[in-house]
Amino acid sequence: MLDESPAKDRTTQIVAVINQKGGVGKTTTVVNLATAVAAVGKEVLVIDLDPQGNATTGFGIPKGRGLQSSYGVLLGLTDPQEVIRKTYIKGLHIISSTIDLSAAEVELFSQKDRDSKLKQSISGLDYDYIFIDCPPGFGLININALNASNKIVIPLQCEFYALEGLAQLFGTIQSVRNTINKKLIVSGILLTMYDRRNSLSSVVAADVRTHFKNLVFNTVIPRNVRISESSSHGKPVILYDIKSSGAISYIELAREFLSREAQ
Ligand SMILES: Nc1ncnc2c1ncn2[C@@H]1O[C@H](COP(=O)(O)OP(=O)(O)OP(=O)(O)O)[C@@H](O)[C@H]1O
Ligand SMILES: [Mg+2]
Repeated sequence: MLDESPAKDRTTQIVAVINQKGGVGKTTTVVNLATAVAAVGKEVLVIDLDPQGNATTGFGIPKGRGLQSSYGVLLGLTDPQEVIRKTYIKGLHIISSTIDLSAAEVELFSQKDRDSKLKQSISGLDYDYIFIDCPPGFGLININALNASNKIVIPLQCEFYALEGLAQLFGTIQSVRNTINKKLIVSGILLTMYDRRNSLSSVVAADVRTHFKNLVFNTVIPRNVRISESSSHGKPVILYDIKSSGAISYIELAREFLSREAQ
C-alpha cells in the first residue's frame, strides 16, 4: 500500500496504447511517454495489461504474482491501491503484469460484466494520467482497456503492411463507442520505427498522413538501437541515453501529446 495519495481535484485521463498488431512499439511508447509526462511533473500510473510483462520489466521491475498484479485488478479481485508500486522515476507508479494474465481472457468470458471489470476496478484512482499497455489482439483484456479509457494512442510501425489492420482497429473502436464507451476518442496515431535510409518508411508515413491527416502525431519515432538496448536494460530510453534520437523523439511526443490535451 502506498503511503501518500495524490490530490483529488483533477480529472484522470486514461490512455490505452493499443494496436492489435504485435511488435509495433506499444510498450516502448507506454514506457517512454509515461516517463516523459512524469518528468514534467504529472502524476502518472502505468497499468501493464500484457501477460508478456514488457512494460513492467521495461522499468526494471520484477513481474507481479497471481492476484498481486494487474490480473487481480482486471478481475476485480484485488484493490489496485494494494498493488500499485513505485518506480525509481519520480511521480511514476505501476501496476505490474504477471503471466497469470494470460488466463484472464477465459476467466472473464463467463462473467456478466466482463467488459467493464477494469473500469470498475480503477474508477477511484486519482492520477493526472493512467497509461495502459495493451497486449496484441482483440480479446477481452483489450475490450476492458478500451472501456476503461477515454483516449487512445495507436502506434503504427512504418512498414509495408502498416495500414492493414487499421480499418479493423477503427471498427472495433467504433463499436466500443456505440455500445459501452461513447466518450472514447483517438488522441493520435504515432508513426514508429521510422527508418530514414529506407524509402518505404517515407512512403508509408505519407500514406498514413494522407488517410488520417491531423490524427497523426507530427512527431515520428525513428528506428534507434538505443531504444531496443534500453528495454533490455530495464530503463526508459530517456534515462538510458537522453541524447539519443529515440529519447529526443519521445520527449517531443510528450510535448505534442500534452499540447493536444490542452486544446
Ligand atoms: N523506435 C524503435 N527503434 C528500435 N527498436 C524499437 C523501437 N521501438 C520498439 N523497438 C523494439 O522493437 C521491439 C517491439 O517493440 P514493443 O515491445 O514496444 O512493441 P509492442 O507493440 O509492445 O509488442 P507486443 O505486441 O509484443 O506487445 C522491442 O524489442 C523494442 O525494443
Ligand atoms: Mg507490448
